[in-house]
Amino acid sequence: MTTLNIIGCGRAAKTLARLWQRQRAIDIGAVLTRSHAGALDACRFIGGGRAVARIADMGPADLWLLGVPDREIEGVARRLAACGSIRPGEGVFHLSGFSSSALLEPLGAQGAGVASVHPVLSFAEPDRAVEQFGGSLCGVEGSPDLCVQLTRLFATIGGNCFPLDAGHKPLYHAGSVFASNFLVVIMDVARKAYLAAGVAPDVAERLLAPLASATLANVIERGARVSLTGPAARGDHDVVSAQQLAVAKWSDEAGDAYAALTALAYRLAAEPLACD
Ligand SMILES: NC(=O)c1ccc[n+]([C@@H]2O[C@H](COP(=O)([O-])OP(=O)(O)OC[C@H]3O[C@@H](n4cnc5c(N)ncnc54)[C@H](OP(=O)(O)O)[C@@H]3O)[C@@H](O)[C@H]2O)c1
Repeated sequence: MTTLNIIGCGRAAKTLARLWQRQRAIDIGAVLTRSHAGALDACRFIGGGRAVARIADMGPADLWLLGVPDREIEGVARRLAACGSIRPGEGVFHLSGFSSSALLEPLGAQGAGVASVHPVLSFAEPDRAVEQFGGSLCGVEGSPDLCVQLTRLFATIGGNCFPLDAGHKPLYHAGSVFASNFLVVIMDVARKAYLAAGVAPDVAERLLAPLASATLANVIERGARVSLTGPAARGDHDVVSAQQLAVAKWSDEAGDAYAALTALAYRLAAEPLACD
């Protein structure tokens, strides 16, 4: 069976590893994190693997997953290359949607296949992510043979891989930041605006959930243009200006966000409505 070593086994990597372990799709080998306690904890969560404290203790593997934060990928790849731990023909991949597999080039230069697979899911809570992962899309780029191998591996746990253009990953990843991270921020700003306007906390929650859920359902089912309502969409410019002042008076950052989002809302409102 293919063996997988893991360096950096936090929310994303431990979720994937537990799913692969559950499917018996791969043999989880050595697991290394920054703290040894982290590696022990990851192995407990995965239900397999061998926690180690140093790269030198990892032993050979067919595949290596660098599940470290993006800022650590390049340095870890350089350290792995310097240790000579990876043999020609082995495959190394990371999970970043922002950085390309070129960060792994020190290992590619030693004959390893290099790739990245970006699972498009929020792994905020691994216990939940394990249940949510099936059906997730995963953007893949890198050495062609390794991409094929990883596409098969991710398919064993319900991941649907699609090809990514490595040169456009920062903009591609911004799509996920807008769709997921900023959605959370916008919901938080909305709740705080209600509270600052004197709305009771329980009422604020009851306002938010149905409003946001229905809007999201509309956007998904009917598209953005037809789902856009509110003063900018109606062309109520006086309301938009007065509201801009009120928001900016309450919070500088929220005022800036309101201005930027209003400009985008006007632009969206100017697009033609698609005919059914
Ligand atoms: N989280 C998501 O929703 C998500 C979604 C898609 C893709 N990704 C990608 O997945 C990757 C990991 O993100 P994450 O959210 O899973 O990160 P995370 O939860 O913060 O986990 C990072 C892991 O890396 C370890 N680590 C940090 N620096 C290290 C080093 N120098 N050497 C060895 N291990 C090191 C940490 O060890 P300790 O625990 O001991 O500190 C931890 O196990 C990133 O490339 C990210 O872009 C994440």
